[in-house]
Amino acid sequence: MIQKRVGVLISGRGSNLGELIAAQADAPYKIVLVISNNDDAGGLKRAADAGIATQIIPHKGKSREAFDAELDTALRAGDVQIVCLAGFMRILSDGFARAWEGKLINIHPSLLPAYRGARVHERVIAAKESQSGASVHFVVPELDAGPVIAQARVPVHPDDTLEILSARVLEVEHRLYPAALRLLAEDKVKLEKGLAVFG
Ligand code: GRF
Repeated sequence: MIQKRVGVLISGRGSNLGELIAAQADAPYKIVLVISNNDDAGGLKRAADAGIATQIIPHKGKSREAFDAELDTALRAGDVQIVCLAGFMRILSDGFARAWEGKLINIHPSLLPAYRGARVHERVIAAKESQSGASVHFVVPELDAGPVIAQARVPVHPDDTLEILSARVLEVEHRLYPAALRLLAEDKVKLEKGLAVFG
């Protein structure tokens, strides 16, 4: 089986990274590099424990373009073919998004295009939505606006707290992200003229 070389960008605990790692043994992808902008990101240990190369690239004191250029250099040095954002808390420059167009995906804890941006679960609860979910999408320059590759839906109950709802969504994220990455790695989905095209 041909495995596409994947780089994962994280900023925090990396539970989605953990699921991508757990699923890779019989998958058409192999995570070869994990990059964090924070040196205390929990996901770094998950990667190291799995024998995956890690790199810390701090963003502080750098322009967005300079930081992204360092990311790009590291990813290319690792011969990375697909980049996954997994709880990566930096907005990427337009140039980076364009350079990796069609090869760059993110997981977002809402049913996009609803609830782009931060603090999704608070806003979903405040709006008394009856459902929410998670989306894996191609990254384009506009934040959380790229075409969706896969989504999973969960109910929202009237008495849900932030913790309860985020845990319910996270559970489906953990199944969704490996499945979506598999589709991309097998060329079963492509970004064409701004659309996710399947088949
Ligand atoms: C997830 O909810 C993901 O959807 C969002 O950030 C969170 C990352 O969690 N983009 P983890 O670091 O993967 O545990």
